Amino acid sequence: MLNENLQYPSDFNSEVKDATAHLYKGVEKIIPEVEWPFHAPLIHEINKLKKEKNIAILTHNYQTPEIFHCVSDIVGDSLKLAYEARDSEADTIIVCGVHFMAETAKILSPNKNVLIPDTRAGCSLSESITAEDIRLLKQKYPGVPVVTYVNTSADVKAETDVCCTSGNAKHVVESLGVDKVIFLPDEYLAKNIAAQTDVKIISWKGRCEVHERFTADEIMAYKKQHKDIVVLAHPECSPEVIAVSDFAGSTAGMSNYVKDNQPGRVIMVTECSMSDNVAIENPNVEFIRPCNLCPHMKRISLKKIYDAIRFNQHQILVDKAIIDKARLSIDRMLEIGRSS
Ligand code: 13P
Ligand code: SF4
Repeated sequence: MLNENLQYPSDFNSEVKDATAHLYKGVEKIIPEVEWPFHAPLIHEINKLKKEKNIAILTHNYQTPEIFHCVSDIVGDSLKLAYEARDSEADTIIVCGVHFMAETAKILSPNKNVLIPDTRAGCSLSESITAEDIRLLKQKYPGVPVVTYVNTSADVKAETDVCCTSGNAKHVVESLGVDKVIFLPDEYLAKNIAAQTDVKIISWKGRCEVHERFTADEIMAYKKQHKDIVVLAHPECSPEVIAVSDFAGSTAGMSNYVKDNQPGRVIMVTECSMSDNVAIENPNVEFIRPCNLCPHMKRISLKKIYDAIRFNQHQILVDKAIIDKARLSIDRMLEIGRSS
């Protein structure tokens, strides 16, 4: 939470204006000029402190443009952030995303100082399952490998055989060479993968509170209104939504689709900020925005990033025994790699 008694950089002087002018050029289509003087002093200070303290800011695709485009060192989907956390040479990693992403960074870089600007940035999928649930499932289905989406806690990952993300889920499931897997916790991702593979999928009842809100009727109404529209959807959406979409993939998969195909008009059936960030990089593509916000992602702000740096808060701490077990399941995934 923000302490309103604290001071934050707010002077939009000529030094700040000059030092941030190139950054504003990059976001001017999305951030109105009148708003820039509120962001620029914080952006300037964060970027100065980051260099002084050897900090890397790893930012998920759902963060707002002033964070995504103006203070981040690495941006991407969950899978890319995991690779970068493992390979980073910074002393401190700040994760601008949700808690499971910061925990994954800590598991992969246990000797680094890993911070999250707001500890309340959670995830409905991560909340949907506990380590005890997995232990019970393993008793019920002995010998069946457990594939767990990275949107889970470190305790859950420690009970897992191999992790996956939306960018490699099918690839991970099929790489195991078995006829049956336990696939947790996202019910819709499990159904969407089951539709593409002969491997039998035993699923759980978790849902993403953002993606479950989209309906096929809503998407069909957009398609009726804009005949030439290309629909890109995240696989956390229901199978009915995926069935009326032209492409389903991770946040990076959707972003790459736009970059590579340059459709005239597109809808990204996912979190709001994604379209803003991708629109900036693809000025010739028109974005129709069916907007659902992730309230957890939106807890991160420039002020909280600034506080994270100046007060070295909030440190991610994970028990060593859990790190050692959870790391195996993430390392297995990173060895298998990406499929989309
Ligand atoms: P990606 O791995 O596709 O970035 O998705 C993460 C997420 O939380 C989507 O809701
Ligand atoms: Fe979790 Fe959904 Fe938010 Fe992604 S969009 S972090 S899955 S609640």
